[in-house]
Amino acid sequence: MVAIVALLFVTSAIFFNAAAADPDLLQDVCVADLASGVKVNGFTCKDIANVSAADFFFEGLAKPGLTNNTLGSLVTAANVQKIPGLNTLGVSLSRIDYAPGGLNPPHTHPRATEIVFVLYGELDVGFITTANVLISKSIKKGEVFTFPKGLVHFQKNNGKVPAAVIAAFNSQLPGTQSIAATLFAATPPVPDNVLTKAFQVGTKEVEKIKSRLAPKK
Ligand SMILES: *[C@@H]1O[C@H](CO)[C@@H](O)[C@H](O)[C@H]1NC(C)=O
Ligand SMILES: *[C@@H]1O[C@H](CO)[C@@H](O)[C@H](O)[C@H]1NC(C)=O
Repeated sequence: MVAIVALLFVTSAIFFNAAAADPDLLQDVCVADLASGVKVNGFTCKDIANVSAADFFFEGLAKPGLTNNTLGSLVTAANVQKIPGLNTLGVSLSRIDYAPGGLNPPHTHPRATEIVFVLYGELDVGFITTANVLISKSIKKGEVFTFPKGLVHFQKNNGKVPAAVIAAFNSQLPGTQSIAATLFAATPPVPDNVLTKAFQVGTKEVEKIKSRLAPKK
């Protein structure tokens, strides 16, 4: 009986560990030393003597980001790269601004679930499950929507006025792979013959998309 209870504890511990996002921290703070050349899973810690409030602070989400780009949207991240004090804490935020018609194009976050809170405006949002089912909804000011870890998702402002959200992540650095850019703007490029077969189109079409998405020099 005792052995069974112990086994249950161990398996549930393993389960909860596997279900978590970033690993737990082993100390109060580990403010990232972003300049350190030492590579670990995350960042090495600054000397505590050099830690201050500035390491935990960021004002970059206070104002709308500029959305006058091709997609009409801008993601402003507040992750460990901007807030070194987030290192090992397993959370971060972004602000996303959308012009009317703006799109945050289909992408995934390999390391985090995302939950967005609409500051203003209205958005059509969705994610696609591994069974290829689209789960989508229109959301407006004050509402919240969740994008499960790793699943492809998007947000589109089909309204006539700007929109903005605050997005929270259970990772200090969720990572982003934007599907179109990942496939059509990688360096070195993904071979045309991979893309023509995958998308069932010709080389011309693939080259056209590649030229449109080419990274700005
Ligand atoms: C604190 O930072 C200063 C300036 O960056 C640096 O010269 C000093 O060596 C640091 N001290 C510690 C204890 O890391
Ligand atoms: C976007 O607007 C800003 C400020 O109005 C301007 O400085 C910038 O050049 C514009 N960018 C593009 C891509 O038009």
